[in-house]
Amino acid sequence: MKHWGAFFLLLGTCFNGQSVCDEEKGHHGHPKGPGSGHWSYQDEEEWKVNFPHCGGSEQSPINIDTGSVVFDPNLKPIRLSGYNVTSAASLRLKNNGHTVLLDLPDSLLVFDGLPQTFRAAQLHFHWGSKDSPGSEHTVNKHRFRGEIHVVHYSAEYDSISEAVQRRGGLAVLAAFIEEGTEENPNYEELLSYLENVAEEGQSTEIPRFDIRGLLPQKLDRYYRYNGSLTTPPCFQSVNWTIFNQTIALSEQQLATLEDSIHSDHDHVLQMNFRQPQSLNGRLVLSSFGTSVVGRRAPPGGPVPAAEAPSSDEPSNNSDKGAQGSDEHGLSTGTMLAIIFGVMFAVTAVAFFIYFRKSQTRNRRSGSENKSNVIYKAATTEENVA
Ligand SMILES: *[C@@H]1O[C@H](CO)[C@@H](O)[C@H](O)[C@H]1NC(C)=O
Ligand SMILES: *[C@@H]1O[C@H](CO)[C@@H](O)[C@H](O)[C@H]1NC(C)=O
Ligand SMILES: *[C@@H]1O[C@H](CO)[C@@H](O)[C@H](O)[C@H]1NC(C)=O
Repeated sequence: MKHWGAFFLLLGTCFNGQSVCDEEKGHHGHPKGPGSGHWSYQDEEEWKVNFPHCGGSEQSPINIDTGSVVFDPNLKPIRLSGYNVTSAASLRLKNNGHTVLLDLPDSLLVFDGLPQTFRAAQLHFHWGSKDSPGSEHTVNKHRFRGEIHVVHYSAEYDSISEAVQRRGGLAVLAAFIEEGTEENPNYEELLSYLENVAEEGQSTEIPRFDIRGLLPQKLDRYYRYNGSLTTPPCFQSVNWTIFNQTIALSEQQLATLEDSIHSDHDHVLQMNFRQPQSLNGRLVLSSFGTSVVGRRAPPGGPVPAAEAPSSDEPSNNSDKGAQGSDEHGLSTGTMLAIIFGVMFAVTAVAFFIYFRKSQTRNRRSGSENKSNVIYKAATTEENVA
């Protein structure tokens, strides 16, 4: 039962009624020690002692090596419904000592882009500090400032506690957080309440808002792999989706995320990410190709604050080569120009050779004017052929 206690601590939700919540409180009352269910980011290597799944072979997070990712054309754009929350009067935000977490109604759905429909349970964050980035996943060993995880469970199960240990029972939508120049108004809906949950165990009700705004604008470009919860009990039940487009927060907003939440003993909670785990032969798929393909038409309208600063957008005046080669496909116009250019060159060369041959022949056959030369030579060639 201690593993379950830790899991509910992680989710911060009393799925099975008050008894689980009481047990959760019990953990906090006890001193640290083996079997207490306590864990921290300082003793990652020890997690597997109390939580054997943490020593498994399909653990998360991982480093995503974009050179080894396999394009899977069957990975459809992620589609969401109910994310503009209307079913709840308010949403519960809490500090569980490991992260800040927002409970989500199960009316929020992922209904495309995964093998089944998934229902939302909660979202939470991982971050670093002002001087050190804190995303969990890394891309080509690059660590981002932070990462959001929106946790869902398969609608084939009645509850998240039923799904949490089943392979593919959970789906987490993840996105990287970077520093941008402007304040992100969508994140303000949540960040402005962090001071109310500064201490471990505190929770507060916040007004409902559009959760969709916490995710990147483009949900069609993502990585997919089979992994685990990134905290004890590390169940290997998560089908991961990691978006290619990032989210931008202002420096002030990043400071709020990094400096507001306290863990045990009133320490500021920072660097709450797990080290990358071995792939052990797992494939990382991507929904977008790295071959030369035409770029989809950009979405119209103004770019919202959640738009990534630049990583996802093609440059219109410089060729960055390998970086995002899929974004640098030749336009149809350019292709036609090249084809006609080559055809013209071939014709010109053929004509030149022809012309030289005719001249040679004409020198032998004496004096005839230019137009006749060409006409007669052509006739001769045609007869030969
Ligand atoms: C995760 O989703 C992919 C489809 O994107 C599917 O092929 C794979 O089997 C799923 N993994 C699990 C463990 O269900
Ligand atoms: C997004 O994809 C491009 C092209 O593969 C890659 O260069 C870039 O690192 C990716 N960024 C993220 C955050 O996945
Ligand atoms: C090209 O990019 C610059 C900024 O990088 C932008 O100001 C300009 O409008 C772009 N031009 C076109 C034609 O997209």
